[in-house]
Amino acid sequence: MCAARRIGPAFRDAHLLPLPAAFVTPLFARKPIADLIPEGEHSLKRVLTAGDLVMLAIGAVIGAGIFGAIGTAAAGQVGPDGVVIRMGAGPALVFSFLLLGGACALCAMCYAELAAMIPQAGSAYAYAYATLGELVAWIIGWDLILEYAVGNVAVAISWGDYFTTLLRGVGVVLPPWLTTGYRTALLSANPDVHGLLATAPQVFGWPVLVNVPAFGIVALVTWVLLRGAKESARVNNIMVAVKLVALALFIGFGLTHLNGANYTPFAPNGFAGIHQGAAIVFFAYIGFDAISTAAEETTNPNRNLPIGILVGLGVCTLIYVVVGAVLTGMVPYAQLGVADPLAFALEAAGFKAVGLIVALGAAVSMTAVLLVFQYGQPRIFFSMARDGLLPKWAARLHPKTRIPWATTLLTGVLVAAWSLIGDAAETYDLTNIGTLFAFALVCIGVLVLRVVEPDRPRPFRVPWVWPVALLGAASCAFIMAGLPAQAWSRFGAWLGIGLLIYVAYGVRHSRLRASR
Ligand code: ALA
Repeated sequence: MCAARRIGPAFRDAHLLPLPAAFVTPLFARKPIADLIPEGEHSLKRVLTAGDLVMLAIGAVIGAGIFGAIGTAAAGQVGPDGVVIRMGAGPALVFSFLLLGGACALCAMCYAELAAMIPQAGSAYAYAYATLGELVAWIIGWDLILEYAVGNVAVAISWGDYFTTLLRGVGVVLPPWLTTGYRTALLSANPDVHGLLATAPQVFGWPVLVNVPAFGIVALVTWVLLRGAKESARVNNIMVAVKLVALALFIGFGLTHLNGANYTPFAPNGFAGIHQGAAIVFFAYIGFDAISTAAEETTNPNRNLPIGILVGLGVCTLIYVVVGAVLTGMVPYAQLGVADPLAFALEAAGFKAVGLIVALGAAVSMTAVLLVFQYGQPRIFFSMARDGLLPKWAARLHPKTRIPWATTLLTGVLVAAWSLIGDAAETYDLTNIGTLFAFALVCIGVLVLRVVEPDRPRPFRVPWVWPVALLGAASCAFIMAGLPAQAWSRFGAWLGIGLLIYVAYGVRHSRLRASR
């Protein structure tokens, strides 16, 4: 029997500590933390160690951001109509990385405190349920789809680009209409890509433009995940090793080909460039929080979660700063706005074979990212369904592997379908804004819980919690401010749709409300 059913109303209400009157309405009902720690048939299987978690963090973090978006962050971005979408950071990109590393470290500490206190599969969604109430929890759960599922669309498409480049390297050339999504052709400033709208085969007057490699990798990753958590972690460990080797090769060869002249001007667009560069390349940091979704499958979560999150983030920041410094020293920053900047820089330096190996490493790295995010999203859906905010079938566990198979499959189908026709650039900003919003709310949630449940045991406590959490939330808001207006309007629309679904379904099916 799960904990929620054993706890009587008196115990539950004892956890609803005195809050301003508006908060004690059903919309803001907080889920007692004891209810957030499920047991028995409703719980997942604990198989992951601290080492697995650090590897999961690196697996989730290093991917399309450092292998792809880094180029746009350095060079800037121009739309099909020639209008500047954002300014590039130039070689000062290393400051963008440091700024982001600092901001993410503040948020990571807040994540660690909540993840260790509430070792449950729903990540920020579960934390919000315990701290800010059901409505905010739903908003975050809905918002996290942008981070996990929509983010994976961008990664899958970027994977497809690298895979196509690799195939070309070994003499296999696929027709462009099989490797380019419809929206990519529609939005591209490159006349060759945009021209595909007219030259691709047509069905009922519509151009057939599909990204088959992106679709295929999502299908493969979904199949791996359906085999169970431990098996997935093993596959991830191998891929992490490959990505570290690829980056070490890039750094090693790149260092032999630095040109001091490329560092001048160092910050061509001043702080605005560093800020706007940071807003794109924030994508490279997304993922350290994803391991909190593995909390319910982690052995000794109180010790292992903080280690996994903080160690993973530290390693990634160090790697990014070094890669950024080497990349902008190898090639003039203005030339870096390509799909595969690391391989491009190596080729430009005359290391063509190494460039291909690094491209292979990039494809493997992105597979690892896909794996971790495709792992996280179903567990958030699972948590929401277990709470009654999504239909019951989404909370079904496989009898043998005990993984949430229904939501794993659903996530696979959604991400694969979007990857088939979507555009990577279009999804980066949406993913970033959604993720930053969730991070900010997690920082605030830590403070709320410190106030309303000061005595609850905290296996990991954020040091100087008020300045750290407030600065963490403010940093997220600041990075969000560097995103274009379109990202804000799309984000608003996304949240609006989520609220409608909550009103139409969640309000009536919430288990917490039913139990009150
Ligand atoms: N941080 C992940 C990546 O860069 C999402 O691919």
